[in-house]
Amino acid sequence: MTIDSRWDQSAMVERMSSDFGRRYPLAFWEFFESQVRPRTGDAPAIADLGCGAGLLLQELSSRLPDATLRGIDVSRAMLANARELDYAAATPTFTLHDLNHAPYPVEDASLDLCISANVTCFLDNPLVLFAEVRRMLRPGGVYLLFDWKRQTLPAYVEGRGGFGNDPAALMSLQPYHNRFTLDEWRWLLAEGGFDLVGEAHPRTSHVALAGAPR
Ligand SMILES: C[S@@+](CC[C@H](N)C(=O)[O-])C[C@H]1O[C@@H](n2cnc3c(N)ncnc32)[C@H](O)[C@@H]1O
Repeated sequence: MTIDSRWDQSAMVERMSSDFGRRYPLAFWEFFESQVRPRTGDAPAIADLGCGAGLLLQELSSRLPDATLRGIDVSRAMLANARELDYAAATPTFTLHDLNHAPYPVEDASLDLCISANVTCFLDNPLVLFAEVRRMLRPGGVYLLFDWKRQTLPAYVEGRGGFGNDPAALMSLQPYHNRFTLDEWRWLLAEGGFDLVGEAHPRTSHVALAGAPR
C-alpha cells in the first residue's frame, strides 16, 4: 500500500497547508537561522525530501531567494499543491519518488542542504534515506532532520487535541509519529554516518537535528 492510498490525500494537503505556522514555530526558524543556515552559504542547492504541500519550500524561497530548490514526494496530490503555490523566487522543481527506494533522482554531491521534515518516521528504513543524503550532499553540506519523537500515548493524544477530532486518523498515524525516541534518532543519525552539529526542540513533540557527513 502506498502513502497515497493509506490516508485521505486532500485532507492531508489541507492539514499540511493550514497548520504550517503551528508545525513550524519561531523556535524552528531560530534553529534554522543559527545552526543550519551558517553552513549553507547564500545560494545553496536545497532538496526537501517528502516536501508535502510545499509550504516549507515556499518559506525557504523567501528566506533564501538565491537558493535553488527542489521537492520530492510520493504523493501526487501533495506535489500538485506545491506546484501551484506562489514562490518569492524561482519556482522549485518537483519530482515524484518513493523515498523507500534508492537512488533518489538527484545527482551525487549536488546539494548544500538536504531536509527531511516529518517524513523519515514514515520510511521503512531511515538508513536508506541517510545514505542517499550523504551521497547527494556536497563536501561541507548539511542535513536537517525535523521529526516526531516518541511520547507517552496520553501525551501524544493530548498534544493532537484529544480523541474528539478524528480518532481513526490519530491512531493510524500514532505508530509512525511515536516510532523513535530522541536518543534513537541521535543513534540512527550516527549510524547513518553523520556527526551531530545542531539540535533543538521547537515543539514538545518534535526534534530538529543538524548532521554533517563524517
Ligand atoms: C506529514 S507530511 C510532511 C510534509 C512536509 N515535509 C511538512 O513537514 O509539512 C509527510 C509527507 O511525506 C510524504 N511521504 C511519506 N512517505 C513517503 C515516501 N515513502 N516517499 C516520499 N514521500 C513520502 C507524504 O506524501 C507527505 O507529503
